[in-house]
Amino acid sequence: MDSEIQKIKSEIANLSIEKALNKVVFLFPEKVIFSTSFGYEDQLLTHLIASNSLPIEIFTLDTGRLFQETYSVLNITLDRYKKKISVFYPNTSNTETLLTEKGAFSFYESIENRKECCFIRKVEPLKRALSGYSVWITGIRSEQSGNRTAMQELEWDEGNKIIKYHPLLNWSFEQVKAYVNQHNIPYNSLHDKGFVSIGCAPCTRAIKDGGDFRSGRWWWEDTSKKECGLHQST
Ligand code: ADX
Ligand code: SF4
Repeated sequence: MDSEIQKIKSEIANLSIEKALNKVVFLFPEKVIFSTSFGYEDQLLTHLIASNSLPIEIFTLDTGRLFQETYSVLNITLDRYKKKISVFYPNTSNTETLLTEKGAFSFYESIENRKECCFIRKVEPLKRALSGYSVWITGIRSEQSGNRTAMQELEWDEGNKIIKYHPLLNWSFEQVKAYVNQHNIPYNSLHDKGFVSIGCAPCTRAIKDGGDFRSGRWWWEDTSKKECGLHQST
């Protein structure tokens, strides 16, 4: 798989982001999928995919605990781009058992409980969403967290047996924001209220100016490499 990744790397080296996405689609026809959580980065990528009519499928994981503002961006994005976004929901029986046995806020009680909820609401549905695809595009940027500085633009995800491609890995937050504004791309209104990284409502809060990008996620946990399992921590 390493040689395949090296081949893609050399094919897309020095290309603009649009051309690089085009090239990846050419190399893996009908096998490229993009995951969106409707944050700034993902909206930028959705804009590029839809406005260039790239044959890349888009999906989102609706954990059932998202902000109303996030659902609004989903609808605004559908209206604007007329591009299908597949929605994956957690397994009903697992979610019913979790809520029946542990109530609605078990994730605040321990890291183990938090990971259990993330597994049920994100990791398991992700596996279903990625099934049958060869390349998974994300909106990850390296400055988002300690764990992400070590990531490569193209890498092999052993857990999901898929190549991951992070086209915005080396973009800064300011670059992304400027692009979104310049192209009048719809974005989550929470970004204007101090939210930089937006996940589930009970587990995300605004950060202070200049604060760590991930400090608003699972803020009650004391670790610098917080991940929910979608993107494995090193
Ligand atoms: S997370 O692992 O902490 O939740 P983060 O919010 O930083 O991830 O988002 C990084 C990338 O993961 C996004 O650009 C997107 O590609 C993917 N992602 C995160 N949450 C979701 C979601 N709910 N649905 C689909 N993709 C998601
Ligand atoms: Fe559950 Fe919070 Fe993880 Fe969302 S972020 S899946 S609510 S623990």
